Amino acid sequence: MASELDHSTHAGSPFYLPASEFFLKHQAEGLTFDDISLATNYSEILPRETDLQSSLSESLTLRLPLISSDMDTVTEDEMATAMALHGGMGLIHYNMSFKQQIKQVAKVKNHVHGLIQDPITVQPEQSIGDVILLIESKGFSFRTFPVVDKDGKLIGLLPGRVVKPRYASRLVSEAMNPREDLFTLNETQIGDNPIKAADQFFNEHIGIHKLLVVDQNDRLHGLFTLSDIEQIAEESRSDFRPARDDKFRLRCGAAVSAPRTADGEIDNHLLIEHVGDLVEEGVDAIAISTAHGYSQGVGLCIRSLRDTFPDLTLIAGNVTSKAGVEFLAESGADAIKIGQGPGSICTTRVVAGVGIPQMTALYDASRAETKKPVRLIADGGVTKSGDVVKALTLSDAVMCGSLFAGCREAPGKILEIDGKLYKEYRGMGSLEAMKAGAAARYGHSLKDSKQKLAAEGIEALKEVSGSVTDIIGQLAGGLQSGLGYLGAADLSTLKTKARFIKVSPAGLRESKPHDVVEVKTSTTRE
Ligand code: XMP
Repeated sequence: MASELDHSTHAGSPFYLPASEFFLKHQAEGLTFDDISLATNYSEILPRETDLQSSLSESLTLRLPLISSDMDTVTEDEMATAMALHGGMGLIHYNMSFKQQIKQVAKVKNHVHGLIQDPITVQPEQSIGDVILLIESKGFSFRTFPVVDKDGKLIGLLPGRVVKPRYASRLVSEAMNPREDLFTLNETQIGDNPIKAADQFFNEHIGIHKLLVVDQNDRLHGLFTLSDIEQIAEESRSDFRPARDDKFRLRCGAAVSAPRTADGEIDNHLLIEHVGDLVEEGVDAIAISTAHGYSQGVGLCIRSLRDTFPDLTLIAGNVTSKAGVEFLAESGADAIKIGQGPGSICTTRVVAGVGIPQMTALYDASRAETKKPVRLIADGGVTKSGDVVKALTLSDAVMCGSLFAGCREAPGKILEIDGKLYKEYRGMGSLEAMKAGAAARYGHSLKDSKQKLAAEGIEALKEVSGSVTDIIGQLAGGLQSGLGYLGAADLSTLKTKARFIKVSPAGLRESKPHDVVEVKTSTTRE
């Protein structure tokens, strides 16, 4: 009997409408997350079976559609590492020197990734004293080094136990374990799963801590360490799978501003040079982050980056309209950030009187007609996992600042006020953040002393909320439940199956816990 019923998504229902009909019906209203709710569908999908994979370009896939905001109180290397370890990505902010930003990207990309492709090596004619100086000057945390000749051929391994001041005058060649005693793999033996190959090796060779990789001519091509492989094996036992590139390094993005010369022109040279340095370190995506992406300056920057780096994933924003998306896509962007004024610390709507409530902005953006597919990132205003589900009915990824700002992986110190623990969270358009470098994002210049900076963000505090694992656990769990209710196995099906209804003020009250005294034993966030 059941199979004869029509299980299609409320076809013909006058109440539960697909996005195109729903937003048309409410075309003069700006709607945001709490203004709408999603209808359930017939489902054969269990939440735990759902696939949360998404992408920001043809080449950049994420296992989880979550990105931490490029804000100076949200994403530095520690947050970006945590985001990627959970399958998402962090965008490192640009309120720091170019050099610092490059270093932070390098730190994420060099986080334990299994096969170290350019291990630090030493030469046989160096002294142990030289090696000790090298360790001290670079601050290395390891003391074991492969030894290579001037052609890069592997000739030994200097074990950490001999790198001691008492042997300072001895030569590396005297202290190293010779080539014939070393465990090596030929790179052709690794296949496409380096971790599996190394894991198998270490299982079979108890007590060995280093495995060297060589090419056909015995030139050194990489190094595995047992501790890295053990850490990765541990990570893979967690509920989350890391987002990695094709060299097994964690994904990491970085934001840049649209830099200008003293006479107000886009400083193309500076932009290309800095992005070139980030690309060298393996950055996966560059975001031109401004408050007004539908603008000549952002278009010029994206065009110039696209010409110079044809394969680099480019994110641009922020915009809130079909026209804005089409403009940035035409300029060469792969993914476009949607959101003007929804953020928890934003005052753009108050100060400038502009901005569009987020669900309407996302819908209009999703109507864009572009030659090449573009992805949309819903940026700002997300306070709970239900908002993530709603945002993903019209976008490909969600960017959050506030939800991550209280995590221990966010930059900044923990403050104690009246026995409660807080972290600072400030808008990039707040006075202090603009003074620290973000003014360009809001089209202001600090050099013009006559101009008074008009802040478009506030400085605030976030209660400390545990770790990224806790927050992502809640967001991903809620997202999976949403998919289950809609009968969607993945995010693209979520889009086609979503049916919307507007929520009245009484309906919103009904949606939240009401008429009870809540006992705070769960980690439910509101
Ligand atoms: P949530 O709601 O997650 O929003 O805290 C984070 C997003 O807000 C944007 N942002 C700002 N918008 N003035 C604004 O109007 C600001 O000072 C500001 N700082 C950040 C940004 O898009 C971020 O991802």
